[in-house]
Amino acid sequence: MINVDSIHHVRGESIYLDDIPLRSGTFHALTYDAPVAHAHIDSVDYTEALAMDGVKAILTYKDIPGENEIGGIFPDEPLLAEHEIHFWGMPIAIIIAETEYVCRKAKKAIKLKYTELPVIVDPREARRQDSLIFPPRTFKLGNVEKAFEACTYIYEGQVDSNGQEHLYIETQGAYAYPTENGSIRISSSTQGPTAVQKTIANVLGIAMHKVEVDVTRLGGGFGGKEDQATPWAVITALASYILKCPIKYALHRMDDMRMTGKRHPYSSDFKIGLDADLKIKAYQATFHQNAGASADLSPAVMERTLFHATNTYFIPDVEVTAYSCKTNLPPNTAFRGFGGPQGMFVIESAIRQAAKALGIKARKIQKANLLKNGDSFPYGQIIDRGEATNAWDTCLSKFDIEQLEENVATFNKENSRYKKGIGIMPICFGISFTNTPMNHARALVHIYLDGSVGISTGGVEMGQGLNTKMIQIAMSEFGIDPSKIKIETTNTTRVANTSPSAASATADLNGKALEIACRALKDRIFEVAADELQSSSTALSIKNNLVYVDGKATTLSWKSLITKANLARVCLTENGHYATPIIHFDKSKEKGHPFAYHVYGNSITTVTVDCLRGIYDFDSVHLVHDFGKSMNTAIDYGQIEGGLVQGIGWMTMEELLYNEKGRLLSNALSTYKIPDIYSVPKVIDIKALGTDGHPLAIRRSKAVGEPPLMYGIGAYFAIQNAILAFNPDSKLRFDAPYTPEKVLMDLYQNE
Ligand code: MTE
Ligand code: HPA
Ligand code: MOS
Repeated sequence: MINVDSIHHVRGESIYLDDIPLRSGTFHALTYDAPVAHAHIDSVDYTEALAMDGVKAILTYKDIPGENEIGGIFPDEPLLAEHEIHFWGMPIAIIIAETEYVCRKAKKAIKLKYTELPVIVDPREARRQDSLIFPPRTFKLGNVEKAFEACTYIYEGQVDSNGQEHLYIETQGAYAYPTENGSIRISSSTQGPTAVQKTIANVLGIAMHKVEVDVTRLGGGFGGKEDQATPWAVITALASYILKCPIKYALHRMDDMRMTGKRHPYSSDFKIGLDADLKIKAYQATFHQNAGASADLSPAVMERTLFHATNTYFIPDVEVTAYSCKTNLPPNTAFRGFGGPQGMFVIESAIRQAAKALGIKARKIQKANLLKNGDSFPYGQIIDRGEATNAWDTCLSKFDIEQLEENVATFNKENSRYKKGIGIMPICFGISFTNTPMNHARALVHIYLDGSVGISTGGVEMGQGLNTKMIQIAMSEFGIDPSKIKIETTNTTRVANTSPSAASATADLNGKALEIACRALKDRIFEVAADELQSSSTALSIKNNLVYVDGKATTLSWKSLITKANLARVCLTENGHYATPIIHFDKSKEKGHPFAYHVYGNSITTVTVDCLRGIYDFDSVHLVHDFGKSMNTAIDYGQIEGGLVQGIGWMTMEELLYNEKGRLLSNALSTYKIPDIYSVPKVIDIKALGTDGHPLAIRRSKAVGEPPLMYGIGAYFAIQNAILAFNPDSKLRFDAPYTPEKVLMDLYQNE
């Protein structure tokens, strides 16, 4: 089925936050944000700004009627700075004016006096100073010390991965207006409408039922709007509540880049031990997560790093520890993969270190250690329906790895300036929020008198194709065509207390809730049809808008059945609730069964490096992915292509740079390079693994949102292998992104 949104996207008719027509009397908001990363605020003088024509008000923390607190997991983050600044870009005050232009003029007239305090930007430095967000956590399996004693080979090293700017096409923003009885309505570009609602209620000091959050769709979120859409929505709500007028705030790109958190940079150490048969017997890693100035989602992200520390390998003795380090960067946050990619990059690096020292191909080690059914992850979950070996073997045979390697070897023999390299990157990603209580969702379904259907779920459409998948579920449950089904906006008054659309689980959770609601409705209207047709309801089905008995068409249409059901006073509305069964996790033991299932796959990336200039081009990515039984291959293949390219960007060209004072230098698209059409691999060949899926996946169609990003890690190692083909003595560097500058250095640098 074609993505239901695509035609409106192409025509520019889809509604995003900035397309909402403004009510008369709307004012605009802009934050006055910190021009320094760590300081004590001595004084702020707003007099001149307030006196400007068109300026309505400037609000500070003193104007907050409730709590000046927006922390989602820990209450450690003020909305507006009080006496201290913790990161460059931290909001201090809210300027409200007739136009955005006036806001910007007023901003320049604010005078801040401050005393600078020492700035930490590096996570290892934060750990040295004991500046942690919360205590470290360790996942353990077996006895790693003893296991190392028995290892034939042991290698150690350091791995760094940088952050990543989300670069959603639609920047952060919100539009709020007061409704009656001190209530407020907010349109927000958020993945988490309930988080926005709850935080606004807390900051305004009002009940949640007075706050209505509505989301039509996002122009991308990628995790950046799971928690960090909240401050901007709260700012508009606060101003609107106090000033009793509509308030709009949509961030400029450079403001968004400067003020919002990103993927967490990590600096990690590993120690890997192997036996003579290349079995990894012991693995130890220490992760230093650069959390930024407050917790945000860092505890959950850090947890997923630990969950994915061994990627798709079974290692009997493991000890991995993670530190969430508090620095003076904007609080870092969710980003596709949610800490998983950072963990996987470390074990893959450790394998490359071992392979180089042993003079063998990394794939020999990878292959020797793949997970099998019955193996345990370090966190206690036992593999069943594992596909690690299947994905590996299918990929390497379908795409003939020997031939690909031979082609590369021949090319490298014949060329001195250009060298090719191959990187193989298998993935295994757990599906479910790692925090078990978040794994639930609801769907509200109305069948209207004319037989048309309206669906609300807790899920947010952000480009991942959720709306289409929800329509596919309802059309197949009801047997009616898609034109009869409408997906409503995501609204907290219709579907309440939701988890954010995240963890790749949106379609599974909301889809299962929708399925439950549709089935309950179908049961009720089938009773009416059974009466009408003098048959048993188990003999009934609906296809092509028509009721069938024992597979034979009747004259009873869907539409007249609904009319009859209404006359029989049958309720044509249903609320479905779904909570993932089976999953559990005990944090005191760091053991349990946190994931409904895992998604597997394997990829082969080939690159050509220009050894004179250090630049590179990706020839191809061949991959085999475990979709289960894909509900919508066009959408799912799109998710793979997008995730892959986003992952390649993170690993190769996207270079976030903060100076030692905590100022973001890569603060625009002229200094922060993301993949464009020229950097996309020339060939992206995706093959389905063709598994039976999993019963906990919606219609056995496995989650696809985040896992493909991690195929991008293969790009790093492809480049590394091309460098080794040019200069076999080059010292291995594990320091993403592999920018052309670093590539050039490594081409001419020796161990
Ligand atoms: N695809 C598009 N086009 N836009 C997005 O913002 N977000 C990604 C992924 N794919 C995203 C996307 C992230 S971070 C997640 S968690 C999932 O989609 C969320 O949607 P899902 O749970 O329906 O897969
Ligand atoms: N994934 C994504 N988002 C989340 C998670 C998770 O596991 N937990 C909390 N938010
Ligand atoms: Mo995705 S990082 O779970 O929003």
